[in-house]
Amino acid sequence: MSALDSLENPLREGMRLEQSPAPCTVVIFGASGDLAKRKLVPGLYNLARDHRLPGGFSLVGYSRSEMSHEAYRNSMRDSVAKFSATGAPEDSLWDGFAAGMFYCTGGYDDPAGYQKLSEQLDQLDAERGTGGNRVFYLSTPPSLFNTIMDNIGKSGLSKGKNGGWCRVIVEKPFGHDLETAVALNSEVNRIFDEDQVYRIDHYRAKETVQNLVVMRFANGIFEPIWNRNFIDHVQITAAEAVGVEGRGGYYENAGALRDMLQNHLLQLLALVAMEPPTSLDANAIRDENIKAVKAIRAIPPDRVNEHAIRAQYTRGWMNGVEVPGYRQEPGVNPESTTETYAAVKLYIDNWRWAGVPFYMRSGKRMMKRASEIAIQFRSVPHGLFPSSAADLIEPNLLVIRVQPDEGITLKLAAKVPGLGMHPRSVNMDFRYGSSFGVRSSDAYERLLLDCMLGDATLFTRRDMVETGWQLMMPILDYWANAKGKDLHFYEAGSWGPEAAESLMLEGRAWRQL
Ligand code: BG6
Repeated sequence: MSALDSLENPLREGMRLEQSPAPCTVVIFGASGDLAKRKLVPGLYNLARDHRLPGGFSLVGYSRSEMSHEAYRNSMRDSVAKFSATGAPEDSLWDGFAAGMFYCTGGYDDPAGYQKLSEQLDQLDAERGTGGNRVFYLSTPPSLFNTIMDNIGKSGLSKGKNGGWCRVIVEKPFGHDLETAVALNSEVNRIFDEDQVYRIDHYRAKETVQNLVVMRFANGIFEPIWNRNFIDHVQITAAEAVGVEGRGGYYENAGALRDMLQNHLLQLLALVAMEPPTSLDANAIRDENIKAVKAIRAIPPDRVNEHAIRAQYTRGWMNGVEVPGYRQEPGVNPESTTETYAAVKLYIDNWRWAGVPFYMRSGKRMMKRASEIAIQFRSVPHGLFPSSAADLIEPNLLVIRVQPDEGITLKLAAKVPGLGMHPRSVNMDFRYGSSFGVRSSDAYERLLLDCMLGDATLFTRRDMVETGWQLMMPILDYWANAKGKDLHFYEAGSWGPEAAESLMLEGRAWRQL
């Protein structure tokens, strides 16, 4: 047992044993795709390792390539060794997990494949006691979502068997714009009831993001100041050091606004801005989230430039290594106008947030990987200290570090020790890693487990997906018509385009993390 697994940390004493899901089978469509290899199978293995999976748990990989069960198990073992945060699997644990892993060859549009899958699932129910409970994970390119759901419906697999349940997990991107998202939702809801549908947004499941709910509502001190009277503005950043990493084909049609802001960052904004929910029930929280997002002021189509900036990275240096510009990446049009950076300023028109700007930005090939939510408080109302000293005091700032180095920092003014009366800003720090001494679960582990438990809190509801697109449409339409005239550039390894500062008002500035 490693130090991290030990229960000796006093902060963990008294934690109750968590609930276990009912025995079930998870079917992964797109069984040997990138997501299955990097996240899904390693995530399930880690759940098994932490004894969080039910007895009889089974996994079926479904894909077009011919492969034996044994070959699939071996290839997944290699993936776990490569991508799991817990390293190479231990033999005894892996053997138990792999005994419940199977493979089914079938075309995504071939009814015979679904027939074979259905028989395999019945057999698992009989042999491994999975009780007719199924999770279907759509981990294929989105162009296949409709075909797969249609075939699940036609083959009678969309309902659990013998009193069991059936749930479907739909990966992002959920639509390309409002129209396609509405069409996809209609197709999903034609086959499945909304309470069977689990739309993934892995940002919601990050440990620090969930901690936002605990921080806001399990501490009495924040809620009274969590409003326009005390908060000057909010900055939500997801900076990535990586480029498009061989996903040029996908990214060319997406861009930063669709890839990160419309979904992930908007979810973070919803959790910061929502009113206190009445319970932790999935719909109680999601109702508050959607209320906050629906209160965001629509961006006028003729004033998009005052609210949104887009940019693309050019050649530059990252950690002493020269890296190509976006237009030189494989699979990218050398004249591409796709943005790899987007920044947006939004206002929430309600009593709590009137007049408080919410800034969101995300970019690839930025100086470093750092995602955070920064709550910038107002300055003190009266300057008590001499102006020479006042320059050294910054207004209070609460930073929730989403990743890496997960934790919370509160910036305070403190007296410099000595005979004078000199204030300075200092940081009070809480670090997840060192405080609790446990491995944070990967977001996908959490999401897979929650879906098996039937807890949809961290999944995106239909209304949220469509409202998110609705908000972004004026920007997307404007950019599409501008044909690149408004596109700015930033050097790889920088903090993004200077033009992004134009979104800031009254002495505010983007944080350099
Ligand atoms: C994905 C995007 O949804 O999120 C990627 O498609 C991005 O482009 C990724 O890199 C970021 O996720 P994380 O968890 O690494 O911050």
